Amino acid sequence: MGRLPRAALPWLPLALLAAAGAPEAPVSAPRSLAWGPGLQAGVVLPVRYFYLQAVSSEGRNLTRPPPGPAQFKVVVKSLSPKELVRIHVPKPLDRNDGTFLIRYRMYESVNEGLKIEVLYGDEHVAQSPYILKGPIYHEYCACPQEDPQAWLQTLSCPTEEPQIAKDFASFPSINLQQMLREVPKRFGEERGAIVHYTILNNHIYRRPLGKYTDFKMFSDEILLSLARKVLLPDLEFYINLGDWPLEHRKVNETPGPLPIISWCGSLDSRDIILPTYDTTHSTLEAMRGVSNDLLSIQGNTGPSWANKTEKAFFRGRDSREERLQLVQLAKENPELLDAGITGYFFFQEKEKELGKAKLIGFFDFFKYKYQVNVDGTVAAYRYPYLMLGDSLVLKQDSPYYEHFYVALQPWKHYVPIKRNLADLLEKVKWAKENDEEAKRIAKEGQLTARDLLQPHRLYCYYYRVLQNYAERQSSKPEIRDGMELVPQPHDDTSVCQCQGKSPSREEL
Ligand SMILES: *[C@@H]1O[C@H](CO)[C@@H](O)[C@H](O)[C@H]1NC(C)=O
Ligand SMILES: *[C@@H]1O[C@H](CO)[C@@H](O)[C@H](O)[C@H]1NC(C)=O
Repeated sequence: MGRLPRAALPWLPLALLAAAGAPEAPVSAPRSLAWGPGLQAGVVLPVRYFYLQAVSSEGRNLTRPPPGPAQFKVVVKSLSPKELVRIHVPKPLDRNDGTFLIRYRMYESVNEGLKIEVLYGDEHVAQSPYILKGPIYHEYCACPQEDPQAWLQTLSCPTEEPQIAKDFASFPSINLQQMLREVPKRFGEERGAIVHYTILNNHIYRRPLGKYTDFKMFSDEILLSLARKVLLPDLEFYINLGDWPLEHRKVNETPGPLPIISWCGSLDSRDIILPTYDTTHSTLEAMRGVSNDLLSIQGNTGPSWANKTEKAFFRGRDSREERLQLVQLAKENPELLDAGITGYFFFQEKEKELGKAKLIGFFDFFKYKYQVNVDGTVAAYRYPYLMLGDSLVLKQDSPYYEHFYVALQPWKHYVPIKRNLADLLEKVKWAKENDEEAKRIAKEGQLTARDLLQPHRLYCYYYRVLQNYAERQSSKPEIRDGMELVPQPHDDTSVCQCQGKSPSREEL
């Protein structure tokens, strides 16, 4: 303390007050910050969103929810009184750290534009009101941007995606004829969860290869959503709708591996991966029946760190043996771990011994300080949601990965645990004894996940995969025997008119 420069001293009393739990200086509406894709007309998303940071009148970022009765409020309306549109704007999501997440879903498009008022109490925040010049399309309006480069720029898509670069490194060129010959035989018949897609002139065609292809509704919906937003390259590819990645041939073998597209990758396979159907579907259907999605989770992270129960937590199905071990460990060490199996399918004989735990809402997981992430059949698809919470994630070492894992590091963003869970209790004890460090890792993981897992970044990722694939095709994609057109959903409730084009209804 004695070494602090004089200039730092004026801050001292404030810092002490804050530490003692005194109210922070009041929020300044004009100094507070608003930013994000939902403030840009051209970023078409199922749910548009942007962020707020509460800033004090001294210009300091608040790190806790603002005290007092005043609240942030957002009004989104059509610029023209003649264009009445339905827009759903739920209450801001309080992220419990001085920042807020604002969402809105448009059910119709507007030609003239939108006016977004962001208020704190009755004062305008930052540059509010925000005027977004039209046309502004809603999710079901098929008005693709014809210049993909411009679209990528509007979304501020990263130029590099390390996982995509890695996945395509095994495939300098893609031989569509070879795939047509081999894929149905190797993967279509016995395992049967492959869908063969061709995209031509931004229309999507497909045929199922095998019996277990109901999950094509997930791949259909994201491909259609992309095609409504941007002109897709002509493509012919195969999506694996099953849990496990499929291509186990090595790069130096003959014949070599085929670029099958999957939702989950593993260290011993060569599949090209996409964001999982779970994160994708919840992004598309957010605020329409899906309640756990990449955004909603951020406003539902339970008590703040100091008030969370100091135990590791797990609930889930019995899809892997280590999950049963977790329950056994919890029985022996209830002061460190609370774990339960909520449904038995694979190890039904164990139910009697281990018991069945009651289902608990996902948001309630965050009442606990430490979250155990153990694989299910493949990677546990809850991991993105756990990382977006404000608990410390204890992640089981795993050969499986999703599209964003490559950006996360052990001890920086999460605490690693051995595959056989041998060091789990030791790691929980470590976290309890090193609370500051545990909290810091939890925060760093959360901030990184918030950045990587923004819904618009999923669109960037999908497009980049399709683009990389298209560049490597050695012949022209074709509509093959047995393929059918996957039509865009018919939005009877609202016609939209693409700028400089005839209404989309006539095009359909
Ligand atoms: C305040 O918050 C904004 C947005 O979260 C951030 O970009 C900025 O760096 C923060 N400023 C300081 C001084 O931490
Ligand atoms: C913890 O909970 C108590 C009681 O609800 C509350 O008064 C206190 O502000 C909370 N502490 C933090 C850091 O949120």
